[in-house]
Amino acid sequence: MARADPESNRRMSAAGTVVANSAGDMRRLGVQLGQAMGVGDVVALIGPLGAGKTTFAQGLAQGLGVAAERHVASPSFALVNEHPGRTPFVHVDFYRLRTRAELPELGIEEAYDRAATAIEWADRFPDALPADHLQITLAVEDTGGRRLELQASGPRSQRLAGVLAIT
Ligand SMILES: Nc1ncnc2c1ncn2[C@@H]1O[C@H](COP(=O)(O)OP(=O)(O)OP(=O)(O)O)[C@@H](O)[C@H]1O
Ligand SMILES: [Mg+2]
Repeated sequence: MARADPESNRRMSAAGTVVANSAGDMRRLGVQLGQAMGVGDVVALIGPLGAGKTTFAQGLAQGLGVAAERHVASPSFALVNEHPGRTPFVHVDFYRLRTRAELPELGIEEAYDRAATAIEWADRFPDALPADHLQITLAVEDTGGRRLELQASGPRSQRLAGVLAIT
């Protein structure tokens, strides 16, 4: 795994880049981040179909202590899945959400206060995110690996971004 200069991750709202050369790498990065997450942390996963958002979220679940038997898949139809763990893990997918009016019934704002949350396709409804969230934008590299661009928007997410940059 290559990674960006960790210095760039210490500044508030600074961006950092990490490359995951395989699905295993992607999952391991998720585990690292999940181990550092607690109640109130929100990760926004952005990227095209097949970018690796769910693979990363499966790592988050593992890092958050969700049981290995638990099937963590894209919550495309349920829109929200909750998994018990060391910290409860709320896994959201905005892909099939049509309007902002459907958001309140998903209960995600309430989830922000009592769980660690990951949202796939978060860019579809950016104003549904809390002010302080870690945005991770995934892009497919020519090599077949994935580039992760990290963008923190407050102190909580800044701390999380540092976890990926320094390991
Ligand atoms: N870093 C990586 N390098 C190579 N392949 C990867 C990487 N990360 C994930 N993959 C593979 O890419 C495929 C798609 O992954 P995944 O389902 O996680 O994407 P997704 O972004 O959730 O897709 P969707 O938008 O359809 O929900 C899987 O086969 C997965 O194993
Ligand atoms: Mg997915």
